[in-house]
Amino acid sequence: MGLRMIAQTIMFLSLFSVAENKFIPGKSKVVEGDIYFNQAEKRPLGDSTKAQTRSFVASTTPVSVRWTRPNIPYVIHDSILNDKTAFDAVNNGMKMIQDMTKNCVRFLKRSTEKNFINVTNIGGGCYSGVGQIGGEQTVNVGPGCGTPGIVMHELLHVLGFWHEQSRSDRDTYVQIHFENIILGKAVEFDKRSGQDELEKNISYDFYSLLHYKYNTFAKLDSLDTITPTKAFGHVPKTALGQREQLSATDVRKVLWMYQCTAECKSPQLTNGTTSPTTDRYMAWSEVTYTCTTGFQLVGPSRRTCVPQSDGSSGWSGMEPFCASPANAYYTQYCDMETDCFKLQYGVYSTGAATLRVQYGPTTTEGTGPDFDNTYRSDTAGYLVMEAKGANVGDTASLISRRRIQEYNGDRICIMFYFNMFGTDMGSLTVNANGVKVFEQLGSTDNNSWRMVCRQVNPPWHWSPWWAYYVSLRMDAKRGAGVQGDIAVDDVYVGPCKSIPGYSGVMCPTK
Ligand SMILES: *[C@@H]1O[C@H](CO)[C@@H](O)[C@H](O)[C@H]1NC(C)=O
Ligand SMILES: *[C@@H]1O[C@H](CO)[C@@H](O)[C@H](O)[C@H]1NC(C)=O
Ligand SMILES: *[C@@H]1O[C@H](CO)[C@@H](O)[C@H](O)[C@H]1NC(C)=O
Ligand SMILES: *[C@@H]1O[C@H](CO)[C@@H](O)[C@H](O)[C@H]1NC(C)=O
Repeated sequence: MGLRMIAQTIMFLSLFSVAENKFIPGKSKVVEGDIYFNQAEKRPLGDSTKAQTRSFVASTTPVSVRWTRPNIPYVIHDSILNDKTAFDAVNNGMKMIQDMTKNCVRFLKRSTEKNFINVTNIGGGCYSGVGQIGGEQTVNVGPGCGTPGIVMHELLHVLGFWHEQSRSDRDTYVQIHFENIILGKAVEFDKRSGQDELEKNISYDFYSLLHYKYNTFAKLDSLDTITPTKAFGHVPKTALGQREQLSATDVRKVLWMYQCTAECKSPQLTNGTTSPTTDRYMAWSEVTYTCTTGFQLVGPSRRTCVPQSDGSSGWSGMEPFCASPANAYYTQYCDMETDCFKLQYGVYSTGAATLRVQYGPTTTEGTGPDFDNTYRSDTAGYLVMEAKGANVGDTASLISRRRIQEYNGDRICIMFYFNMFGTDMGSLTVNANGVKVFEQLGSTDNNSWRMVCRQVNPPWHWSPWWAYYVSLRMDAKRGAGVQGDIAVDDVYVGPCKSIPGYSGVMCPTK
Protein backbone atom coordinates (compact mmCIF):
# COMPACT_ATOMS: atom_id res chain seq x y z
CA MET A 1 0.00 0.00 0.00
CA GLY A 2 1.38 3.36 -1.00
CA LEU A 3 2.08 6.62 0.70
CA ARG A 4 -0.56 8.44 -1.29
CA MET A 5 -3.07 7.99 1.47
CA ILE A 6 -1.08 9.74 4.12
CA ALA A 7 -2.37 13.23 3.76
CA GLN A 8 -5.92 12.68 4.74
CA THR A 9 -8.43 14.23 7.04
CA ILE A 10 -12.04 13.81 7.85
CA MET A 11 -14.45 16.60 7.07
CA PHE A 12 -17.66 17.47 8.79
CA LEU A 13 -20.40 19.46 7.24
CA SER A 14 -22.69 21.19 9.62
CA LEU A 15 -25.13 23.04 7.52
CA PHE A 16 -27.85 23.66 9.97
CA SER A 17 -26.14 23.17 13.23
CA VAL A 18 -22.81 23.99 14.75
CA ALA A 19 -22.89 21.18 17.24
CA GLU A 20 -20.50 19.29 15.04
CA ASN A 21 -18.04 18.17 17.66
CA LYS A 22 -20.00 15.45 19.34
CA PHE A 23 -19.71 12.57 16.93
CA ILE A 24 -16.46 11.03 17.99
CA PRO A 25 -15.83 12.47 21.43
CA GLY A 26 -12.19 12.60 22.33
CA LYS A 27 -11.16 11.34 18.96
CA SER A 28 -12.04 14.15 16.66
CA LYS A 29 -10.73 17.65 16.27
CA VAL A 30 -12.89 20.12 14.46
CA VAL A 31 -11.41 22.23 11.73
CA GLU A 32 -13.16 24.51 9.26
CA GLY A 33 -16.58 23.92 10.71
CA ASP A 34 -17.26 20.65 9.11
CA ILE A 35 -13.77 19.25 9.05
CA TYR A 36 -12.31 17.14 11.73
CA PHE A 37 -9.34 14.90 12.07
CA ASN A 38 -10.05 11.39 13.12
CA GLN A 39 -7.11 10.56 15.28
CA ALA A 40 -8.07 6.92 15.27
CA GLU A 41 -7.06 6.79 11.61
CA LYS A 42 -4.01 4.72 11.00
CA ARG A 43 -1.24 7.03 9.84
CA PRO A 44 2.35 6.35 9.02
CA LEU A 45 3.54 9.74 10.26
CA GLY A 46 4.32 8.90 13.84
CA ASP A 47 2.88 11.48 16.21
CA SER A 48 -0.61 11.68 14.87
CA THR A 49 -1.81 14.58 17.00
CA LYS A 50 1.03 16.80 15.94
CA ALA A 51 1.09 15.68 12.34
CA GLN A 52 -2.57 16.50 11.87
CA THR A 53 -2.39 20.22 12.25
CA ARG A 54 -4.15 22.78 10.15
CA SER A 55 -1.04 23.52 8.12
CA PHE A 56 -0.95 19.85 7.27
CA VAL A 57 -4.41 20.19 5.78
CA ALA A 58 -3.45 23.34 3.99
CA SER A 59 -0.57 21.62 2.27
CA THR A 60 -2.75 18.77 1.02
CA THR A 61 -3.21 19.19 -2.71
CA PRO A 62 -6.41 17.97 -4.31
CA VAL A 63 -4.57 15.60 -6.61
CA SER A 64 -2.74 13.91 -3.75
CA VAL A 65 -6.00 12.76 -2.15
CA ARG A 66 -7.91 11.60 -5.19
CA TRP A 67 -9.07 8.01 -5.51
CA THR A 68 -6.85 5.51 -7.28
CA ARG A 69 -9.71 4.92 -9.69
CA PRO A 70 -12.81 7.08 -9.93
CA ASN A 71 -15.00 4.09 -9.20
CA ILE A 72 -15.87 4.65 -5.59
CA PRO A 73 -17.03 1.46 -3.85
CA TYR A 74 -19.77 2.07 -1.30
CA VAL A 75 -21.79 0.22 1.30
CA ILE A 76 -25.02 1.54 2.73
CA HIS A 77 -25.42 0.85 6.42
CA ASP A 78 -28.74 -0.33 7.92
CA SER A 79 -29.18 3.04 9.62
CA ILE A 80 -29.68 4.55 6.15
CA LEU A 81 -31.81 1.69 4.86
CA ASN A 82 -34.17 2.37 7.77
CA ASP A 83 -34.60 6.03 6.77
CA LYS A 84 -36.28 6.38 3.40
CA THR A 85 -35.56 10.10 3.08
CA ALA A 86 -31.86 9.61 3.64
CA PHE A 87 -31.78 6.50 1.45
CA ASP A 88 -33.41 8.28 -1.49
CA ALA A 89 -31.14 11.29 -1.03
CA VAL A 90 -28.04 9.10 -1.10
CA ASN A 91 -29.11 7.25 -4.22
CA ASN A 92 -30.20 10.39 -6.01
CA GLY A 93 -27.06 12.27 -4.99
CA MET A 94 -24.83 9.52 -6.36
CA LYS A 95 -26.81 9.28 -9.56
CA MET A 96 -26.82 13.05 -10.10
CA ILE A 97 -23.02 13.22 -9.82
CA GLN A 98 -22.64 10.34 -12.25
CA ASP A 99 -25.07 11.85 -14.72
CA MET A 100 -23.65 15.35 -14.56
CA THR A 101 -20.09 14.15 -14.99
CA LYS A 102 -21.15 11.70 -17.72
CA ASN A 103 -19.94 8.77 -15.61
CA CYS A 104 -16.49 10.25 -15.17
CA VAL A 105 -16.83 9.09 -11.58
CA ARG A 106 -19.04 6.26 -10.52
CA PHE A 107 -20.30 4.94 -7.21
CA LEU A 108 -20.37 1.17 -7.26
CA LYS A 109 -21.62 -1.29 -4.68
CA ARG A 110 -18.60 -2.66 -2.87
CA SER A 111 -17.61 -6.25 -3.47
CA THR A 112 -14.23 -6.92 -1.84
CA GLU A 113 -12.50 -3.56 -2.35
CA LYS A 114 -10.34 -2.53 0.58
CA ASN A 115 -10.96 1.19 0.20
CA PHE A 116 -14.63 2.17 0.33
CA ILE A 117 -17.14 4.57 1.77
CA ASN A 118 -19.64 3.48 4.39
CA VAL A 119 -22.77 5.63 4.28
CA THR A 120 -24.32 5.83 7.74
CA ASN A 121 -26.96 7.75 9.66
CA ILE A 122 -25.63 7.54 13.17
CA GLY A 123 -25.80 10.42 15.61
CA GLY A 124 -26.19 13.88 14.15
CA GLY A 125 -24.54 15.74 11.35
CA CYS A 126 -23.37 15.24 7.82
CA TYR A 127 -19.71 14.50 7.46
CA SER A 128 -17.25 12.74 5.26
CA GLY A 129 -13.57 12.22 4.58
CA VAL A 130 -11.72 14.26 1.99
CA GLY A 131 -10.45 12.01 -0.79
CA GLN A 132 -9.46 8.37 -0.50
CA ILE A 133 -8.43 7.74 3.07
CA GLY A 134 -7.64 4.06 2.85
CA GLY A 135 -9.84 1.31 4.23
CA GLU A 136 -13.37 2.06 5.39
CA GLN A 137 -14.35 5.72 5.58
CA THR A 138 -17.61 7.02 6.94
CA VAL A 139 -19.99 9.37 5.17
CA ASN A 140 -22.69 10.30 7.64
CA VAL A 141 -26.08 11.53 6.47
CA GLY A 142 -27.81 12.45 9.72
CA PRO A 143 -31.22 14.01 10.38
CA GLY A 144 -31.67 17.16 8.31
CA CYS A 145 -29.03 16.05 5.79
CA GLY A 146 -31.34 13.93 3.65
CA THR A 147 -31.39 15.97 0.46
CA PRO A 148 -29.51 15.09 -2.73
CA GLY A 149 -27.73 18.47 -2.61
CA ILE A 150 -26.27 17.90 0.84
CA VAL A 151 -25.34 14.34 -0.05
CA MET A 152 -23.59 15.61 -3.19
CA HIS A 153 -21.70 18.13 -1.08
CA GLU A 154 -20.41 15.25 1.05
CA LEU A 155 -19.62 13.17 -2.01
CA LEU A 156 -17.57 16.03 -3.44
CA HIS A 157 -15.52 15.89 -0.25
CA VAL A 158 -15.19 12.14 -0.81
CA LEU A 159 -13.90 12.84 -4.30
CA GLY A 160 -11.16 15.02 -2.80
CA PHE A 161 -12.49 18.58 -2.78
CA TRP A 162 -12.27 21.12 0.03
CA HIS A 163 -14.63 23.99 0.74
CA GLU A 164 -14.65 26.63 -1.93
CA GLN A 165 -14.02 29.51 0.47
CA SER A 166 -10.88 27.86 1.83
CA ARG A 167 -9.08 28.53 -1.47
CA SER A 168 -5.94 30.59 -1.08
CA ASP A 169 -7.30 33.28 -3.43
CA ARG A 170 -10.72 33.64 -1.78
CA ASP A 171 -10.12 37.15 -0.39
CA THR A 172 -10.40 38.52 -3.90
CA TYR A 173 -13.90 37.13 -4.13
CA VAL A 174 -15.39 37.07 -0.67
CA GLN A 175 -15.10 39.10 2.49
CA ILE A 176 -15.17 37.33 5.82
CA HIS A 177 -16.96 39.25 8.60
CA PHE A 178 -15.03 37.94 11.56
CA GLU A 179 -16.94 40.16 14.01
CA ASN A 180 -20.11 38.19 13.24
CA ILE A 181 -18.63 34.74 13.67
CA ILE A 182 -19.37 32.68 16.75
CA LEU A 183 -16.57 33.00 19.26
CA GLY A 184 -13.88 30.41 18.63
CA LYS A 185 -15.13 29.59 15.16
CA ALA A 186 -12.97 32.00 13.19
CA VAL A 187 -10.63 29.13 12.39
CA GLU A 188 -13.41 27.58 10.37
CA PHE A 189 -12.77 30.33 7.84
CA ASP A 190 -9.07 29.65 7.47
CA LYS A 191 -7.79 29.56 3.97
CA ARG A 192 -5.33 27.17 2.47
CA SER A 193 -1.73 28.27 2.35
CA GLY A 194 -0.89 28.22 -1.32
CA GLN A 195 -2.33 28.04 -4.79
CA ASP A 196 -2.64 24.39 -5.81
CA GLU A 197 -3.07 22.80 -9.22
CA LEU A 198 -6.84 22.99 -8.96
CA GLU A 199 -6.87 26.71 -8.23
CA LYS A 200 -4.50 27.34 -11.12
CA ASN A 201 -6.80 25.59 -13.52
CA ILE A 202 -10.27 26.44 -12.28
CA SER A 203 -11.32 29.81 -10.94
CA TYR A 204 -13.32 30.69 -7.82
CA ASP A 205 -16.96 29.69 -7.92
CA PHE A 206 -19.57 31.47 -5.78
CA TYR A 207 -22.17 28.98 -6.96
CA SER A 208 -20.31 25.84 -5.92
CA LEU A 209 -22.01 23.16 -3.85
CA LEU A 210 -18.88 23.43 -1.71
CA HIS A 211 -19.37 27.07 -0.73
CA TYR A 212 -20.50 28.18 2.73
CA LYS A 213 -23.75 30.12 3.11
CA TYR A 214 -23.59 33.86 3.79
CA ASN A 215 -24.43 33.27 7.45
CA THR A 216 -22.64 30.00 8.19
CA PHE A 217 -21.27 30.17 11.74
CA ALA A 218 -22.99 33.51 12.40
CA LYS A 219 -23.65 34.54 16.00
CA LEU A 220 -27.20 35.29 14.87
CA ASP A 221 -28.83 34.02 11.71
CA SER A 222 -29.46 37.61 10.66
CA LEU A 223 -25.74 38.42 10.61
CA ASP A 224 -23.50 37.86 7.60
CA THR A 225 -20.24 35.97 7.93
CA ILE A 226 -19.22 35.73 4.30
CA THR A 227 -20.30 37.97 1.42
CA PRO A 228 -19.00 38.75 -2.09
CA THR A 229 -16.37 41.54 -2.17
CA LYS A 230 -17.18 44.93 -3.70
CA ALA A 231 -15.57 43.86 -6.95
CA PHE A 232 -18.12 41.07 -7.10
CA GLY A 233 -21.04 43.08 -5.77
CA HIS A 234 -23.20 41.81 -8.64
CA VAL A 235 -23.23 38.35 -7.03
CA PRO A 236 -26.12 38.21 -4.55
CA LYS A 237 -25.08 36.90 -1.15
CA THR A 238 -28.02 34.52 -1.22
CA ALA A 239 -26.36 32.75 -4.15
CA LEU A 240 -23.71 31.45 -1.76
CA GLY A 241 -24.15 28.02 -0.28
CA GLN A 242 -26.67 26.53 -2.72
CA ARG A 243 -27.34 22.86 -2.10
CA GLU A 244 -29.34 22.05 -5.20
CA GLN A 245 -26.93 20.66 -7.77
CA LEU A 246 -23.36 20.67 -9.01
CA SER A 247 -22.46 24.01 -10.54
CA ALA A 248 -20.88 23.98 -13.98
CA THR A 249 -17.55 24.56 -12.25
CA ASP A 250 -18.11 21.68 -9.83
CA VAL A 251 -18.53 19.44 -12.87
CA ARG A 252 -15.31 20.80 -14.41
CA LYS A 253 -13.49 20.20 -11.13
CA VAL A 254 -14.45 16.53 -11.15
CA LEU A 255 -13.45 16.10 -14.81
CA TRP A 256 -10.18 17.88 -14.09
CA MET A 257 -9.37 15.91 -10.95
CA TYR A 258 -9.99 12.54 -12.58
CA GLN A 259 -8.55 13.56 -15.95
CA CYS A 260 -11.75 12.51 -17.65
CA THR A 261 -11.03 14.63 -20.67
CA ALA A 262 -8.09 12.46 -21.75
CA GLU A 263 -8.64 9.70 -24.29
CA CYS A 264 -6.91 6.51 -25.41
CA LYS A 265 -6.28 5.46 -28.98
CA SER A 266 -8.61 2.85 -30.46
CA PRO A 267 -7.29 -0.58 -29.54
CA GLN A 268 -6.07 -2.83 -32.37
CA LEU A 269 -6.50 -6.59 -32.43
CA THR A 270 -5.82 -8.55 -35.59
CA ASN A 271 -7.78 -11.78 -35.85
CA GLY A 272 -9.90 -10.77 -32.93
CA THR A 273 -12.40 -8.14 -31.77
CA THR A 274 -12.38 -5.44 -29.14
CA SER A 275 -15.39 -4.25 -27.23
CA PRO A 276 -17.05 -1.82 -26.83
CA THR A 277 -16.64 -0.41 -30.32
CA THR A 278 -16.71 3.34 -30.11
CA ASP A 279 -14.82 6.23 -31.61
CA ARG A 280 -13.88 7.62 -28.19
CA TYR A 281 -12.18 5.77 -25.37
CA MET A 282 -12.29 8.18 -22.45
CA ALA A 283 -10.03 7.99 -19.42
CA TRP A 284 -10.98 5.14 -17.10
CA SER A 285 -13.03 3.29 -19.68
CA GLU A 286 -12.23 -0.36 -20.25
CA VAL A 287 -11.84 -2.46 -23.34
CA THR A 288 -12.01 -6.24 -23.63
CA TYR A 289 -10.15 -8.34 -26.19
CA THR A 290 -11.46 -11.55 -27.76
CA CYS A 291 -9.70 -13.62 -30.42
CA THR A 292 -11.34 -15.32 -33.38
CA THR A 293 -11.90 -19.04 -32.84
CA GLY A 294 -8.65 -20.93 -33.28
CA PHE A 295 -6.50 -18.02 -32.15
CA GLN A 296 -5.21 -17.65 -28.66
CA LEU A 297 -5.02 -14.41 -26.76
CA VAL A 298 -1.55 -13.65 -25.42
CA GLY A 299 -1.70 -10.79 -22.97
CA PRO A 300 -4.50 -9.39 -20.84
CA SER A 301 -8.12 -9.85 -21.90
CA ARG A 302 -9.11 -6.47 -20.51
CA ARG A 303 -7.34 -3.11 -20.25
CA THR A 304 -8.07 0.25 -18.70
CA CYS A 305 -7.51 3.68 -20.24
CA VAL A 306 -5.26 5.28 -17.64
CA PRO A 307 -4.46 9.01 -17.51
CA GLN A 308 -0.72 9.69 -17.45
CA SER A 309 1.02 12.38 -15.46
CA ASP A 310 1.73 14.34 -18.66
CA GLY A 311 -1.98 14.70 -19.45
CA SER A 312 -2.13 12.00 -22.11
CA SER A 313 -3.72 8.59 -21.60
CA GLY A 314 -2.58 5.05 -22.32
CA TRP A 315 -3.96 1.53 -22.04
CA SER A 316 -2.83 -0.36 -18.96
CA GLY A 317 -0.63 -3.46 -19.06
CA MET A 318 0.95 -5.02 -22.14
CA GLU A 319 -0.67 -4.96 -25.56
CA PRO A 320 -2.36 -8.30 -26.21
CA PHE A 321 -2.33 -10.13 -29.53
CA CYS A 322 -4.04 -13.13 -31.07
CA ALA A 323 -1.58 -15.89 -31.78
CA SER A 324 -2.33 -18.78 -34.09
CA PRO A 325 -2.10 -22.11 -32.22
CA ALA A 326 1.40 -22.62 -33.61
CA ASN A 327 2.52 -19.20 -32.48
CA ALA A 328 0.87 -19.52 -29.13
CA TYR A 329 3.07 -22.48 -28.56
CA TYR A 330 6.17 -20.39 -28.28
CA THR A 331 4.83 -17.66 -26.02
CA GLN A 332 3.93 -17.64 -22.41
CA TYR A 333 2.17 -14.93 -20.48
CA CYS A 334 0.69 -14.64 -17.02
CA ASP A 335 -1.40 -11.71 -15.77
CA MET A 336 -1.21 -13.08 -12.22
CA GLU A 337 -5.00 -13.04 -11.91
CA THR A 338 -5.07 -16.79 -11.58
CA ASP A 339 -2.55 -19.40 -10.76
CA CYS A 340 -1.21 -19.34 -14.31
CA PHE A 341 2.19 -18.68 -12.81
CA LYS A 342 2.08 -22.03 -11.03
CA LEU A 343 1.69 -23.82 -14.36
CA GLN A 344 4.54 -21.89 -15.90
CA TYR A 345 6.88 -21.55 -12.97
CA GLY A 346 8.06 -23.31 -9.89
CA VAL A 347 8.16 -21.29 -6.66
CA TYR A 348 11.05 -21.79 -4.28
CA SER A 349 11.97 -19.96 -1.14
CA THR A 350 14.44 -19.69 1.66
CA GLY A 351 13.42 -18.81 5.21
CA ALA A 352 9.92 -17.41 5.56
CA ALA A 353 9.71 -15.66 2.18
CA THR A 354 6.65 -16.47 0.08
CA LEU A 355 5.44 -15.54 -3.39
CA ARG A 356 1.70 -15.41 -3.85
CA VAL A 357 -1.03 -13.61 -5.73
CA GLN A 358 -2.28 -10.52 -3.92
CA TYR A 359 -5.56 -8.85 -4.87
CA GLY A 360 -5.62 -5.18 -3.96
CA PRO A 361 -3.20 -3.25 -1.75
CA THR A 362 -0.74 -5.11 0.43
CA THR A 363 -1.22 -4.86 4.18
CA THR A 364 1.75 -2.67 5.09
CA GLU A 365 1.62 1.14 4.91
CA GLY A 366 4.35 2.81 2.89
CA THR A 367 5.11 -0.09 0.58
CA GLY A 368 3.49 -2.30 -2.02
CA PRO A 369 1.22 -1.38 -4.92
CA ASP A 370 -2.26 0.04 -4.35
CA PHE A 371 -3.57 -1.68 -7.48
CA ASP A 372 -2.49 -4.27 -10.02
CA ASN A 373 -0.76 -3.36 -13.27
CA THR A 374 -2.95 -5.19 -15.78
CA TYR A 375 -6.27 -3.59 -14.97
CA ARG A 376 -5.26 -0.77 -12.59
CA SER A 377 -7.80 -2.26 -10.25
CA ASP A 378 -7.64 -2.58 -6.49
CA THR A 379 -9.36 -5.95 -6.70
CA ALA A 380 -7.14 -7.53 -9.36
CA GLY A 381 -4.04 -9.62 -8.80
CA TYR A 382 -0.27 -9.38 -8.95
CA LEU A 383 2.50 -11.50 -7.52
CA VAL A 384 4.08 -10.32 -4.28
CA MET A 385 6.86 -11.19 -1.89
CA GLU A 386 5.56 -9.47 1.24
CA ALA A 387 8.26 -8.25 3.57
CA LYS A 388 5.98 -8.67 6.57
CA GLY A 389 6.33 -12.22 7.84
CA ALA A 390 9.74 -12.76 6.28
CA ASN A 391 13.23 -12.08 7.65
CA VAL A 392 16.17 -10.12 6.34
CA GLY A 393 17.74 -11.90 3.39
CA ASP A 394 14.94 -14.46 2.93
CA THR A 395 14.46 -15.01 -0.78
CA ALA A 396 11.47 -16.15 -2.81
CA SER A 397 12.16 -17.32 -6.34
CA LEU A 398 10.14 -17.91 -9.47
CA ILE A 399 11.85 -20.35 -11.80
CA SER A 400 10.27 -21.14 -15.15
CA ARG A 401 9.79 -24.73 -16.06
CA ARG A 402 12.34 -25.46 -18.71
CA ARG A 403 10.01 -25.60 -21.65
CA ILE A 404 11.33 -26.28 -25.12
CA GLN A 405 9.59 -23.93 -27.50
CA GLU A 406 9.45 -23.77 -31.23
CA TYR A 407 11.90 -21.25 -32.63
CA ASN A 408 10.80 -19.01 -35.47
CA GLY A 409 14.10 -17.21 -35.97
CA ASP A 410 13.18 -14.12 -33.97
CA ARG A 411 14.91 -12.81 -30.90
CA ILE A 412 13.24 -13.72 -27.67
CA CYS A 413 11.93 -11.12 -25.25
CA ILE A 414 11.32 -11.19 -21.55
CA MET A 415 8.89 -8.56 -20.38
CA PHE A 416 7.42 -7.87 -16.98
CA TYR A 417 6.34 -5.07 -14.68
CA PHE A 418 7.58 -4.56 -11.14
CA ASN A 419 6.71 -2.35 -8.20
CA MET A 420 9.32 -1.87 -5.47
CA PHE A 421 8.84 1.06 -3.15
CA GLY A 422 9.63 1.39 0.53
CA THR A 423 12.40 2.40 2.89
CA ASP A 424 13.39 -1.18 3.72
CA MET A 425 13.46 -2.46 0.16
CA GLY A 426 15.50 -5.54 -0.69
CA SER A 427 16.33 -6.58 -4.23
CA LEU A 428 14.94 -8.21 -7.35
CA THR A 429 17.29 -10.10 -9.64
CA VAL A 430 16.23 -11.63 -12.95
CA ASN A 431 18.24 -14.22 -14.84
CA ALA A 432 17.59 -15.78 -18.22
CA ASN A 433 19.39 -19.06 -18.79
CA GLY A 434 21.83 -18.14 -16.07
CA VAL A 435 22.65 -14.68 -17.42
CA LYS A 436 21.61 -11.70 -15.31
CA VAL A 437 19.30 -9.50 -17.36
CA PHE A 438 17.89 -7.22 -14.66
CA GLU A 439 18.57 -6.14 -11.12
CA GLN A 440 16.88 -3.60 -8.84
CA LEU A 441 18.64 -2.98 -5.55
CA GLY A 442 16.61 -0.99 -3.05
CA SER A 443 13.57 1.23 -3.56
CA THR A 444 12.51 3.13 -6.66
CA ASP A 445 11.82 6.84 -6.18
CA ASN A 446 8.03 6.53 -6.18
CA ASN A 447 5.31 3.93 -5.85
CA SER A 448 4.57 2.96 -9.44
CA TRP A 449 4.61 0.00 -11.81
CA ARG A 450 7.60 -0.01 -14.13
CA MET A 451 8.08 -2.03 -17.27
CA VAL A 452 11.20 -4.06 -17.92
CA CYS A 453 11.85 -5.52 -21.35
CA ARG A 454 14.98 -7.46 -22.30
CA GLN A 455 16.01 -9.23 -25.45
CA VAL A 456 17.77 -12.48 -24.85
CA ASN A 457 19.59 -14.96 -27.10
CA PRO A 458 18.56 -18.35 -25.86
CA PRO A 459 20.38 -21.44 -27.01
CA TRP A 460 18.52 -23.08 -29.87
CA HIS A 461 18.92 -26.37 -31.58
CA TRP A 462 17.39 -28.88 -33.99
CA SER A 463 15.19 -31.34 -32.16
CA PRO A 464 13.93 -32.25 -34.85
CA TRP A 465 12.53 -28.75 -35.43
CA TRP A 466 14.28 -25.56 -34.47
CA ALA A 467 13.67 -25.07 -30.80
CA TYR A 468 14.83 -22.90 -27.95
CA TYR A 469 14.28 -22.74 -24.28
CA VAL A 470 14.29 -19.91 -21.82
CA SER A 471 14.74 -20.57 -18.19
CA LEU A 472 13.58 -17.44 -16.44
CA ARG A 473 14.45 -16.96 -12.83
CA MET A 474 13.35 -14.11 -10.56
CA ASP A 475 14.75 -13.77 -7.07
CA ALA A 476 13.01 -11.43 -4.64
CA LYS A 477 15.19 -10.86 -1.61
CA ARG A 478 13.72 -9.36 1.55
CA GLY A 479 15.35 -6.16 2.82
CA ALA A 480 15.91 -4.77 6.30
CA GLY A 481 12.30 -4.21 7.42
CA VAL A 482 8.61 -4.54 6.64
CA GLN A 483 8.44 -1.62 4.21
CA GLY A 484 9.82 -3.67 1.38
CA ASP A 485 7.09 -5.46 -0.59
CA ILE A 486 8.34 -6.69 -3.96
CA ALA A 487 5.63 -7.03 -6.61
CA VAL A 488 5.66 -8.38 -10.16
CA ASP A 489 2.90 -8.49 -12.78
CA ASP A 490 2.28 -9.33 -16.46
CA VAL A 491 5.21 -11.60 -17.18
CA TYR A 492 5.72 -12.44 -20.87
CA VAL A 493 8.32 -14.69 -22.48
CA GLY A 494 8.26 -15.09 -26.25
CA PRO A 495 9.23 -13.59 -29.59
CA CYS A 496 9.96 -9.87 -29.61
CA LYS A 497 8.46 -9.26 -33.04
CA SER A 498 7.43 -11.35 -35.99
CA ILE A 499 4.21 -12.20 -34.21
CA PRO A 500 1.59 -12.37 -36.93
CA GLY A 501 -0.93 -9.65 -36.29
CA TYR A 502 0.96 -8.03 -33.48
CA SER A 503 1.25 -4.30 -33.99
CA GLY A 504 3.15 -3.38 -30.84
CA VAL A 505 6.83 -3.33 -30.15
CA MET A 506 7.57 -5.85 -27.47
CA CYS A 507 11.02 -4.61 -26.53
CA PRO A 508 11.92 -1.28 -28.02
CA THR A 509 15.63 -1.42 -28.90
CA LYS A 510 17.69 1.17 -27.10
C1 LIG B 1 -20.32 0.89 8.56
O1 LIG B 1 -20.38 1.64 9.74
C2 LIG B 1 -21.13 1.04 10.78
C3 LIG B 1 -21.20 2.00 11.92
O2 LIG B 1 -19.94 2.39 12.31
C4 LIG B 1 -20.46 -0.27 11.16
O3 LIG B 1 -21.21 -0.91 12.16
C5 LIG B 1 -20.39 -1.17 9.94
O4 LIG B 1 -19.69 -2.35 10.24
C6 LIG B 1 -19.68 -0.45 8.81
N1 LIG B 1 -19.72 -1.27 7.62
C7 LIG B 1 -18.62 -1.77 7.05
C8 LIG B 1 -18.83 -2.63 5.86
O5 LIG B 1 -17.50 -1.53 7.46
C1 LIG C 1 -3.47 23.12 -15.20
O1 LIG C 1 -2.62 24.25 -15.20
C2 LIG C 1 -1.29 23.98 -15.55
C3 LIG C 1 -0.50 25.25 -15.42
O2 LIG C 1 -1.02 26.11 -14.51
C4 LIG C 1 -1.25 23.47 -16.97
O3 LIG C 1 0.10 23.14 -17.29
C5 LIG C 1 -2.11 22.26 -17.08
O4 LIG C 1 -2.16 21.85 -18.42
C6 LIG C 1 -3.51 22.53 -16.61
N1 LIG C 1 -4.23 21.29 -16.63
C7 LIG C 1 -5.50 21.22 -16.98
C8 LIG C 1 -6.09 19.85 -16.97
O5 LIG C 1 -6.16 22.18 -17.29
C1 LIG D 1 7.60 7.80 -10.89
O1 LIG D 1 8.93 8.02 -11.27
C2 LIG D 1 9.16 7.77 -12.66
C3 LIG D 1 10.66 7.86 -12.90
O2 LIG D 1 11.29 8.73 -12.02
C4 LIG D 1 8.36 8.78 -13.47
O3 LIG D 1 8.56 8.56 -14.85
C5 LIG D 1 6.90 8.60 -13.16
O4 LIG D 1 6.13 9.58 -13.82
C6 LIG D 1 6.65 8.71 -11.66
N1 LIG D 1 5.28 8.33 -11.43
C7 LIG D 1 4.51 8.93 -10.54
C8 LIG D 1 3.14 8.37 -10.39
O5 LIG D 1 4.89 9.88 -9.88
C1 LIG E 1 -5.64 -13.61 -39.53
O1 LIG E 1 -5.99 -14.94 -39.71
C2 LIG E 1 -6.03 -15.38 -41.05
C3 LIG E 1 -6.54 -16.81 -41.09
O2 LIG E 1 -5.66 -17.66 -40.40
C4 LIG E 1 -4.66 -15.27 -41.70
O3 LIG E 1 -4.68 -15.66 -43.05
C5 LIG E 1 -4.21 -13.83 -41.59
O4 LIG E 1 -2.90 -13.71 -42.05
C6 LIG E 1 -4.29 -13.34 -40.16
N1 LIG E 1 -3.99 -11.95 -40.16
C7 LIG E 1 -2.89 -11.51 -39.66
C8 LIG E 1 -2.62 -10.07 -39.83
O5 LIG E 1 -2.13 -12.24 -39.08
